[in-house]
Amino acid sequence: MTISFKKSFIAMAAGCALLLSACGAGQEDSAGKESSEEKKVLQVGTEATFAPFEFMDKGQVSGFDVDLLNAAAEEAGYEVNIENTGWDAMFAGLQSKQLDIGMSGVTINEERKKSYDFSAPYFESTSMIAFKEGTKMTGAEDLKGKKIGVQNGTTGQFAAEAVVGQNSSAISKYETAALMFQALQSGDVEAVVTDIAVALEYVKNNPDSGVETVGDDKNFKPEYYGIVFPKGSEYKDDFDKALNELYDNGKYAEIYKKWFNEEPKLESLKEAAKQ
Ligand code: ARG
Repeated sequence: MTISFKKSFIAMAAGCALLLSACGAGQEDSAGKESSEEKKVLQVGTEATFAPFEFMDKGQVSGFDVDLLNAAAEEAGYEVNIENTGWDAMFAGLQSKQLDIGMSGVTINEERKKSYDFSAPYFESTSMIAFKEGTKMTGAEDLKGKKIGVQNGTTGQFAAEAVVGQNSSAISKYETAALMFQALQSGDVEAVVTDIAVALEYVKNNPDSGVETVGDDKNFKPEYYGIVFPKGSEYKDDFDKALNELYDNGKYAEIYKKWFNEEPKLESLKEAAKQ
């Protein structure tokens, strides 16, 4: 009785040891192969009414930002799960670290840098005015005295405020870019201020809308999009390296051409990264 107990105990212990070492070896093997099951999944927030950067297509977030982030994540050895959280919830999620990344055509600026980390610049933009034909609009000065729509908390809002004044009652703020364009369409506002590529895409996608665009180099300065991370994020460096790799290996240019039908100006992005 005692002997057989001892024997089976030893057998059991040996079995456990075998099992344990088998488990250990298994983990090492798959980590070494970087199998997709082992990749860390990063949670990404966005506001997906901002074509061509992010928009819903058959229930999926699609766009330039999505392609670029997927390529960068692949390069850096991560997987990403992109959710249409909305603009404010994206920033809140980054603050609370429930999100690892914000990818939403977010302009890098000093104010935001106080609360978030940004990747190297990945896209050059500026503000543009969209308005209904028949409205006198030759540049930013013509925003004065008109009803203006912006997406709340965006650089379009800040650009409009710089012309007509902060807290101006002429500015209506919408939660999404889509609601801002709807307000223009319905006549609730006479002009909207948004990002250049988004204004141009809207006109392209809505050729019968009677919406026209005008820029203003003097009032609207160049700005750069960056991938957003919570402050102190461990992922920023990996994504900076990945972006650089995509700039140098031609993948960034491939994605850029797919969405914008022209070659990117990589030199000016690299120049902006130095600032
Ligand atoms: N680039 C502008 C900003 O950062 C607008 C971005 C809006 N993005 C969006 N997905 N709706 O303020």
